[in-house]
Amino acid sequence: MIEFNARVRAIPEYPAADTYELGGELVKLASNESPFAPHPQVLEAIERQAHTLNRYPDPSASLLRSRLAERFEVPAAHVSVGNGSCEILLAAAQAMLEPGAEIVYAWPAFSMYPTLAALTGARAIEVPLNERQEHDLEAMAREVTAATRIVLVCNPNNPTATALPIGRIDDFVASLPRHVCVILDEAYVEFSTLQDPDESLPLLERHPNLVLLRTFSKVYGLCGLRAGYALAGNAEFRRGVDLVRQPFSVNTLAQAAAAEALLHQDEVATRVERTAIERLYVEEELAARGVATTDSQANFSWVDLGGRDEREVMRGLGTRGVIVRAGSALGSEGHIRVTYGTRAENDRFLRALDEALAEAPAT
Ligand SMILES: Cc1ncc(COP(=O)(O)O)c(C=O)c1O
Repeated sequence: MIEFNARVRAIPEYPAADTYELGGELVKLASNESPFAPHPQVLEAIERQAHTLNRYPDPSASLLRSRLAERFEVPAAHVSVGNGSCEILLAAAQAMLEPGAEIVYAWPAFSMYPTLAALTGARAIEVPLNERQEHDLEAMAREVTAATRIVLVCNPNNPTATALPIGRIDDFVASLPRHVCVILDEAYVEFSTLQDPDESLPLLERHPNLVLLRTFSKVYGLCGLRAGYALAGNAEFRRGVDLVRQPFSVNTLAQAAAAEALLHQDEVATRVERTAIERLYVEEELAARGVATTDSQANFSWVDLGGRDEREVMRGLGTRGVIVRAGSALGSEGHIRVTYGTRAENDRFLRALDEALAEAPAT
């Protein structure tokens, strides 16, 4: 048999969301996707590019990077794009981590973070969230040493949906030594009511060691194409990312779609508004049932099952065609993470949850 190396053997496997052979239509609320199809002009941009697919993509994604630079008023040399923001995370880890180096992040947070340490042989320092399920920045700062190369802050946090005000993060970054690259993962920042996404940008001028990581997968509804980006306080970050990954990693259609999507900020605002309406609806409905959630600043809720058997609830939802993510797969058993869908999908989730809870025994 083939053998994997020790680093690969250390990578935690992320369980794929279960799908159930129901025949009926599944309600997919497990991956924090957007229920809205891409903007019609984005689809047109994809069609326009389709006939150029006999050529490799632009390796430096010039149009997309210049649009991002313009939109966020940062130098284009500080902008990297990736095959999803995941690729940028992986490349940053490969560029900066190695055995003897350390990476600090909160836990539970995005399921990819433990992979970064395992893949590179670095030491992962996982700092528990506080009782409100938020990042404990003081505790994280205490874990930073001369060996720390990367500190990750997920704001809003996946899976707990909580966010911290950007001023707190500003002070946190200021308190850390400059040799530490702070990656502020803002995959869901557009959905937060605590800040305007643009409020993070001035931090880049104050902290050259800061990187804002964002994605076209969530509010822009383009996760099927894979495009993410990073805005860094320096030009070195992009150089490192580009050195370690394969060329042409962001495909032509993804580049064209993302560049077009950026021009439709009115659509972003509409989607954020519609998501906020569903967030309020789902959280109020759950509260009315006595089901606790954190204060969500994202496009999903983190639901405390109040001692009920998580597997039973997952099974109950699954057999009714509703797919959510189990807390145990995300570092916290006894929870589920549910993405907001359309109103009809959210109602189907709530109905299925009522039935699943009635069937699930308390543990
Ligand atoms: C916190 C966080 N960061 C990054 C990502 C990666 O997104 P993508 O690679 O699709 O840009 C996700 C996806 O779920 C996420 O939840």
